[in-house]
Amino acid sequence: MKNYMATLVIPLIIIVSGCLPNGSKDINNDKGKSKDKDVKVAYIHQNDEQFKALKDKGAKIAKVTQVTLGKALNSAITEGGHEYAIDFCNEKALSITDSVSDSEQVSIRRIAKKYRNPQNATDDIESKIFKQYIMEYLSGAPLKAKLAINQNGNPVYYKPIITNSMCLSCHGTPGETMTFDIAETIREKYPADKAINFKAGHPRGMWAITFEGINVATSRQ
Ligand code: HEC
Repeated sequence: MKNYMATLVIPLIIIVSGCLPNGSKDINNDKGKSKDKDVKVAYIHQNDEQFKALKDKGAKIAKVTQVTLGKALNSAITEGGHEYAIDFCNEKALSITDSVSDSEQVSIRRIAKKYRNPQNATDDIESKIFKQYIMEYLSGAPLKAKLAINQNGNPVYYKPIITNSMCLSCHGTPGETMTFDIAETIREKYPADKAINFKAGHPRGMWAITFEGINVATSRQ
């Protein structure tokens, strides 16, 4: 058990300390990092009467989007290999999440602190939420969905996205779990890519589902 924990904890310490390829310390200069302590997250508490309904709805939407994206990714890989699938993700990932958003009248984002597409970057509050997930992961706690309130008073459902071995061909370590060719293709499209060096089972990012039609501040009055 101790050894098992060590294999889990050591790579994660590397992630938390922001170890990047080529010894770069980029992540330590991330915007918002130094402000981490000042940011307060307004969580919706589990006992709040809205919690369960929002959590169930968020979970359903996250699942549908994940399945839609997963299927599209798999058929792109089967159709044209990984290089083609990178183009596919580059062109289609955001529009697929948007298409589910439209049909559900919520905004759906797939966000990450170590992002590939800068449009998917976590903001200060979200970086703090993700950091809390990392701490929970390190302590061996189950990673449960969280509900927070954004600046506009909208509830936001967050759920960690965990990598599996299939993800590593595009988010793994170049020369080890990922080929140098794929790493190069990704670099060309995403020169500031931070989304590599993940291992299977690591928290890669989060679903963020914003209920734009609901305003918690008003509905409580
Ligand atoms: C074929 C290569 C490929 C595979 C396999 C792949 N991804 Fe990605 N991933 C990408 C690309 C390219 C993007 C950027 C998409 C964009 O431009 O919106 C991305 C973006 C993401 C994002 C959005 C945040 C960000 O960094 O921009 C998450 C989260 C993510 N991937 C998780 C996963 C997970 C989990 C798996 C495995 C189930 C996976 N990916 C498998 C290529 C891949």
